[in-house]
Amino acid sequence: MEHSPTFLLLLSTVLLLLLAATPGTLSQPAAAPAPPGPTNVTKILEKAGQFTIFIRLLKSTGVASQLYGQLNNSENGITIFAPSDSSFSGLKAGTLNSLTDEQQVELVQFHVIPSYVSSSNFQTISNPLRTQAGDSADGHFPLNITTSGNTVNITSGVTNTTVSGNVYSDGQLAVYQVDQVLLPQQVFDPRPPAPAPAPSVPKSKKKKEDGDKAGDDSPADASFALRKVGFVHNAVSFCVISISLAWFYL
Ligand SMILES: *[C@@H]1O[C@H](CO)[C@@H](O)[C@H](O)[C@H]1NC(C)=O
Ligand SMILES: *[C@@H]1O[C@H](CO)[C@@H](O)[C@H](O)[C@H]1NC(C)=O
Ligand SMILES: *[C@@H]1O[C@H](CO)[C@@H](O)[C@H](O)[C@H]1NC(C)=O
Ligand SMILES: *[C@@H]1O[C@H](CO)[C@@H](O)[C@H](O)[C@H]1NC(C)=O
Ligand SMILES: *[C@@H]1O[C@H](CO)[C@@H](O)[C@H](O)[C@H]1NC(C)=O
Repeated sequence: MEHSPTFLLLLSTVLLLLLAATPGTLSQPAAAPAPPGPTNVTKILEKAGQFTIFIRLLKSTGVASQLYGQLNNSENGITIFAPSDSSFSGLKAGTLNSLTDEQQVELVQFHVIPSYVSSSNFQTISNPLRTQAGDSADGHFPLNITTSGNTVNITSGVTNTTVSGNVYSDGQLAVYQVDQVLLPQQVFDPRPPAPAPAPSVPKSKKKKEDGDKAGDDSPADASFALRKVGFVHNAVSFCVISISLAWFYL
């Protein structure tokens, strides 16, 4: 193939222009998926509809704003086991009011894992999980997860329950529904021989298999942006090589 020098000059000019335009093309898709500020857990739970008591507790204990700050700064993400409103009616009357302020904070924090756990991660998780309530040793705040098929069982040693639905998941925050309040041992089953009898445990045998998948939006945007970047990278390499060749033939 024979090309006139004019053609090659034209070609290299066009390629140079293309190269100059790339930074703009690159910044466009990268900016689009960025969320406007940290994720608001309260808002997500409000939208889901059946977590009014848990929302009230998140607010009154200050854990809601704690989570807001954590989601702004944490690299590991957050996982929340959100007890539905019906799960609170399974508690012995007066249970919440009998707790000190500190114990209420611990109860709410016990439902929060300071890392993102996708539904497929449950199978490989190592017990006991560390919750935001702290010490996961037996007698304190242990939380264990076992799976079989799609069933994810959770036990605190006081409460046995099953994940009954996926509420939200974005790669940084995961929210799962549980239909029993997760009661931590340290608050509801103190190990050192205590004179006070432990409050009776709700024996609700409600069993819901494999919850609804509503709002299970995967972070497809991110991988799309990555592919876009890869494409642009290849395009840039191609331009550079073409220009080199063009100059060589001139
Ligand atoms: C989060 O959303 C709730 C409900 O929409 C709102 O009341 C609250 O102010 C929001 N929090 C922040 C920190 O924006
Ligand atoms: C998020 O974190 C950055 C710095 O880490 C801070 O400047 C910003 O004010 C925070 N935003 C909110 C809404 O807390
Ligand atoms: C989960 O709990 C149910 C009953 O609550 C039980 O039948 C099942 O064996 C448990 N599965 C695992 C993997 O622990
Ligand atoms: C949780 O799992 C650990 C490790 O398997 C075990 O030592 C502990 O007793 C379990 N605790 C509960 C409450 O099931
Ligand atoms: C929870 O499950 C364990 C083992 O499956 C069982 O030993 C324990 O009695 C159960 N506790 C409650 C409160 O149901």
